[in-house]
Amino acid sequence: MGSHESHTMLTDEWLTPPEIIKALGPFDLDPCSPITRPWDTALKHYSILDMGLLQPWEGRVWMNPPYGQETGRWMERLAAHSNGIALIFARTETEMFRRFVWEKADAVFFFYGRLSFYRVDGTQGKTNSGAPSCLVAYGEDNIKAIEASGLKGYLVRLQRAPHE
Ligand SMILES: C[S@@+](CC[C@H](N)C(=O)[O-])C[C@H]1O[C@@H](n2cnc3c(N)ncnc32)[C@H](O)[C@@H]1O
Repeated sequence: MGSHESHTMLTDEWLTPPEIIKALGPFDLDPCSPITRPWDTALKHYSILDMGLLQPWEGRVWMNPPYGQETGRWMERLAAHSNGIALIFARTETEMFRRFVWEKADAVFFFYGRLSFYRVDGTQGKTNSGAPSCLVAYGEDNIKAIEASGLKGYLVRLQRAPHE
């Protein structure tokens, strides 16, 4: 299969391309970070040793969460925190996407093309991710950061009916 998505059964350790963090930062917290990281993604990091979901979250959050079934719990937490940007696969039809993106986020940015993620040793994966990725923004400041980032893609602001 040769894509990162096919590797996700084996590992969560696919890191955000650093130029994306640079374009969108600075962030106060990355709640799901490798134990040993090749670069900082925020001022403060939690790894699996800290169990990031059990910790307090403060400030502006950068979140590229663990994949698969895990993703929903992290997105639920970021939606409740309501200040941050998540990088996830653009699986727009899933229940997770409906509950925590379409119904809770303020904007979604769909990347042009596919991303190639990095290994924890700082080298880039040889194949692209095999699927489309998007940024999910919670909070107006995070929408503005995406608009100012220069990243290539399409920003969609979400407007919900008052009862939602
Ligand atoms: C897709 S990677 C993204 C890493 C980094 N946030 C980035 O943007 O480059 C997800 C990370 O979450 C970490 N992780 C998995 N379970 C975790 C947990 N319970 N608490 C904190 N981090 C966790 C993994 O070790 C992995 O480094």
